[in-house]
Amino acid sequence: MSGSGLGAAGIDTSVPNVARIYDYMLGGKDNFATDREAAQQLLAAVPHIAGIVRDNRSFIGRVVRFLTAEAGIRQFLDLGAGLPTRDCVHETAQAITPDARVVYVDNDPVVCSHGQALLGSRDGIAVVPGDLRDPGGILRHPQVTGLLDFSRPVAVLCAAVLHFVPDDDKPHEIIAAYRDHLAPGSYLAITHGTTATPEEDPRGDVESVTSVYQRASASLHVRPLPEIERFFDGFEILDPGVVWMAEWRPDPGVPSAAPPESLRGGVGRKPAS
Ligand SMILES: C[S@@+](CC[C@H](N)C(=O)[O-])C[C@H]1O[C@@H](n2cnc3c(N)ncnc32)[C@H](O)[C@@H]1O
Repeated sequence: MSGSGLGAAGIDTSVPNVARIYDYMLGGKDNFATDREAAQQLLAAVPHIAGIVRDNRSFIGRVVRFLTAEAGIRQFLDLGAGLPTRDCVHETAQAITPDARVVYVDNDPVVCSHGQALLGSRDGIAVVPGDLRDPGGILRHPQVTGLLDFSRPVAVLCAAVLHFVPDDDKPHEIIAAYRDHLAPGSYLAITHGTTATPEEDPRGDVESVTSVYQRASASLHVRPLPEIERFFDGFEILDPGVVWMAEWRPDPGVPSAAPPESLRGGVGRKPAS
């Protein structure tokens, strides 16, 4: 894509967009010059950031494989799903359970229009425009209720998205609203940018990345480990806990693409009340 200013669909291409920066990092083509410029700034500040993005997709793949193959989950609600660039949730889930259903939600118009064009007509998949900060609107959306049966377990995925929700928007209350709607045996999976000690982040990478996102469509709000663990209130956190995402049940013999100190990741299960 190319161009600047307001695109034909009213898409603002003058501000770097978090979904399209991420798409560029994954080698996708759904991005504009301003997105690529911001991505280049991120790469200059933190050369292994593209590896972090790939490690995040790998985490999602391992989690979805576990949920589908071992936990018996057949329904997924992927909040802040991003562009369908590679290793999509439905591909992993339906390879194991062909009738798995996946609803992708994103508040970015480019993500939604591309997602709908690529995936919208496939069985068991919906791409829904929506803001995760509006749990009531998403959980009542006809395409969501048409595909997902909330009387049965659902896995809610929030990968690399909650750090775009500032504290003022009360992200923990938002996740609690989803939790309260879920049946026992449902799951929550999160990856999240985190604060780091000087030993973990000697070059100040977190600050560099945060400053690039300050000019983007959403700013970055990294959180300390206890604040990330708090998203799992009301869930039982599975082993090995909320850890560096590359250390969450790694596939034997598959090295991570970046040093482990990147995003924190974890999975929780809603117990029977
Ligand atoms: C960094 S990408 C992560 C994509 C995917 N979840 C992954 O981990 O590979 C963040 C995505 O969240 C979306 N997003 C940001 N804030 C959101 C919000 N409040 N509601 C819904 N989507 C949001 C962005 O448009 C973008 O597509």
